[in-house]
Amino acid sequence: MIDKQVKICIVGCGNMGLIYAQLLLKSGKINPKSLVLIAKDEIQQNKLKKDYFVSIELVSTSIIEAADALLLAIKPQDFNNLSKEIEGRIKSDALVISIMAGINVKTLQKSLNHEFIIRAMPNAPALYGKGITVYYSSNSLSTREMEFGEFVLNLTGKTIKTDKEELLDSVTAISGSGPAYFFYLTLQMKNAAINLGMDAEMAEILVRQTLIGSAEMAANNSIMMSELINTIASKGGTTEAALSYFNFVELDQIILSALEKATLRSKELAQKKD
Ligand SMILES: NC(=O)c1ccc[n+]([C@@H]2O[C@H](COP(=O)([O-])OP(=O)(O)OC[C@H]3O[C@@H](n4cnc5c(N)ncnc54)[C@H](OP(=O)(O)O)[C@@H]3O)[C@@H](O)[C@H]2O)c1
Repeated sequence: MIDKQVKICIVGCGNMGLIYAQLLLKSGKINPKSLVLIAKDEIQQNKLKKDYFVSIELVSTSIIEAADALLLAIKPQDFNNLSKEIEGRIKSDALVISIMAGINVKTLQKSLNHEFIIRAMPNAPALYGKGITVYYSSNSLSTREMEFGEFVLNLTGKTIKTDKEELLDSVTAISGSGPAYFFYLTLQMKNAAINLGMDAEMAEILVRQTLIGSAEMAANNSIMMSELINTIASKGGTTEAALSYFNFVELDQIILSALEKATLRSKELAQKKD
């Protein structure tokens, strides 16, 4: 059972931080008075105050020291500065959940001078409870801390626990960035539709609804992706003509290389913090 009074502090109120804030509030399992959002500066603080009826603060020792759980939702590039401000200030039994790409648990422990860490890689559909999160934790977490961490992560959709932290770099490349790849493909299809004579509005509706419908098909069928493709591509038909061309130009290799580059970038970010 989740203790409603657990004091949660979300550091970083961008896309992801605010998704967690909304999901926590919507869950009804925490007291809104126990949730604190840490804004970057007064401008962001004032903006957020208009939309969120919870405490919006700037980072300070007293707030960090009071938190039972901290969610780090800033960009990895900003972590060095933040860690200097909060290092050694976190309550010794508090749980830190980091969703920052690339920064590993060892580095987080060292930089924050803190033991109990969950490193998670969510993705943006989290907002709709349709996300996928892969997470890894430091060995030392108590059952209570793990339960609370899993409660937070499960709010966003499906979760997978891994004991291979190194996989988080490729998880970042695949599911973390993944929605953008589907949108990219959709955009290219829209451009193609315009080239084939459609106006932009019609092309946008066509590709968007195709994306939504495809996601629904995937959600409602447990068959493998290759079989899903076969339900659309009949022998000698139009879909097969396009798929054959994808194979001819070795699109699979291009996708593999792109995801390898994203994985590498995640590793580079990690090294910068070591
Ligand atoms: N977006 C995704 O789909 C996604 C998916 C998986 C994981 N992630 C991870 O989630 C993290 C956040 O991503 P995001 O897309 O939410 O980034 P974002 O929209 O840029 O949000 C980060 C926010 O943190 C603020 N910030 C920076 N330093 C701060 C500090 N010291 N104290 C308080 N706030 C601070 C930034 O302010 P300024 O903009 O003014 O600097 C910004 O508002 C990243 O580490 C990313 O790797 C993102």
